[in-house]
Amino acid sequence: MVAPHRAYTPPEREIPADTEDTGDETRESIRAQSTAQVGSHGESGVCFMDTLVMTAPTVENGPAAWRIARDSGVLDVNSSYSYLLWFREFARTSAVALRSGGAPVGFVTGFHRPEQPGTLAVWQIAVDRERRGHGVASALLDHLADRLTAIGALRYLETTIGADNTASDRLFRSFAERHAAPLERDVLFPAELFPDTHEAEFLYRIGPLGRQTA
Ligand SMILES: CC(C)(COP(=O)(O)OP(=O)(O)OC[C@H]1O[C@@H](n2cnc3c(N)ncnc32)[C@H](O)[C@@H]1OP(=O)(O)O)[C@@H](O)C(=O)NCCC(=O)NCCS
Repeated sequence: MVAPHRAYTPPEREIPADTEDTGDETRESIRAQSTAQVGSHGESGVCFMDTLVMTAPTVENGPAAWRIARDSGVLDVNSSYSYLLWFREFARTSAVALRSGGAPVGFVTGFHRPEQPGTLAVWQIAVDRERRGHGVASALLDHLADRLTAIGALRYLETTIGADNTASDRLFRSFAERHAAPLERDVLFPAELFPDTHEAEFLYRIGPLGRQTA
């Protein structure tokens, strides 16, 4: 098996303690791209190397993100409209992994918490089933973190994870370890709060980010 890309290069710039959401970054910073070499298994079981481009999404990536979420078998699937809207309104705090030809194989959607602009809340992250386990989600998170760090807009990362989602738990613990940042976990939405059979969601809060290097 080809080893996944896990190298993390911390940003050169220091993040001030009172990071504020500047809101005035240029389109260039939104368009910043990075690449990740990932291995994957084709349908024949053959292992191959692929260079994926990590970048901010466009609305044209919305339908693919909706399909990946729908096919994940785990995520709450929102309307197709919401993914197009998200990629229009929150492109700066989201990312897609594109294979050659431009088709998305994974995505992450996020937003800055309105009253804590240095806190990125990750809403959803998912990778095509056949691409999982090869570092794609890790590369997406690292890319997004670097992009926001470069504009001084990342101190903490938050997400919620269902109690039984081992892969997601490991993904975010691994991110915290790579970035040498503390991780706190606590129940956020107990199962009783949900009107259906939704499991409890735990809040993962990672940070402060950008002070130490891995
Ligand atoms: C969670 C998900 C996005 C991970 O994507 P991925 O590209 O396979 O993740 P990576 O390859 O970057 O792996 C990240 C870490 O998680 C671990 N991991 C991945 N899948 C795992 C699994 N099924 N069980 C245990 N650990 C797993 C990896 O070993 C790696 O750990 P390491 O850095 O210590 O080596 C993917 O499994 C997915 O799309 N799941 C369905 C949607 C979902 O659950 N989203 C999260 C909702 S909060």
